[in-house]
Amino acid sequence: MKNDKLVEEINRLKKEKRAVILAHNYQPEEIQDLADFVGDSLELSRKAAEVEADLIVFCGVHFMAETAKILAPGKKVLLPDLRARCPMADMVRGADLRWMKEQHPGKKVVAYVNTTAEVKAETDVCCTSANAVKVVSSLPDAEIIFVPDRNLAHYVSQKTGKNLHIWDGYCPIHEEIRPKHIQRMKQRHPEAEVWAHPECRPDVLPLVDRILSTGQMIKEAPKSQAREIIVATEVGILHRLRKENPEKKFYPAREKAICKNMKRINLKKVYRALLLEKPEVVVEASLAERAREAINQMVRFV
Ligand code: 13P
Ligand code: SF4
Repeated sequence: MKNDKLVEEINRLKKEKRAVILAHNYQPEEIQDLADFVGDSLELSRKAAEVEADLIVFCGVHFMAETAKILAPGKKVLLPDLRARCPMADMVRGADLRWMKEQHPGKKVVAYVNTTAEVKAETDVCCTSANAVKVVSSLPDAEIIFVPDRNLAHYVSQKTGKNLHIWDGYCPIHEEIRPKHIQRMKQRHPEAEVWAHPECRPDVLPLVDRILSTGQMIKEAPKSQAREIIVATEVGILHRLRKENPEKKFYPAREKAICKNMKRINLKKVYRALLLEKPEVVVEASLAERAREAINQMVRFV
């Protein structure tokens, strides 16, 4: 089937099945254009909880669909390709976190939303890149366990002055954006501002003007005085930035910053998922129960 026909069929099935399509800001362009809602991890979690639908087709990676399922247990959540997983989320398991808790008895646990349900079930409060600083500041504790992103943890610990016990995880895509990429792009575009995602390395963040989640980049772009912006994150974000701000120029800090797991989703797989109502993401009830409170607290932080 050609793409136009696929989009037509997807829209027909969507109506028939009372489905919504949620897509992350790193999704392929055709998926972003098709989706009912495009956003960052926090926005998508909120949307999943409040949207009126029987079926959610989640175009993102597995932990996002799993979080949606935990927040909306009555809805059927589909992930068009179950192999779309986040390598960073898979760097820490429930057993690893239990071990960390034994090493630091009595310490609260903050887990990045990029974790499995098993890890969330061992967590006091979750956060996303949009609210990590606020979540950690809100806790009265001076020492906190933070998993799994060492780069985000480093940034949060600098911002909050708290002593974080950090798991050694990272996003392979952001890890590969190096100071040399920023320096090269600054030389090429001397007038441009540089924006980076907080998953970037601690030697990259001091070189940039602003540190923002993907959703914050989308909100700040129209308000910014800058005419040109170098963006240090996964390149999928450029599609929306350019579409919504045609008068501005956006450049990727590293053109090869592509998350292949995010790009596993395509129109054909979305169509098949809607047609067959699978692959479905399910979370065992008692695990979901234990993970839900930590996620609910995250969703409450703006
Ligand atoms: P946000 O969209 O929440 O900024 O997170 C980026 C990310 O890690 C998605 O994989
Ligand atoms: Fe995971 Fe990084 Fe891909 Fe996001 S961009 S899904 S953090 S690997």
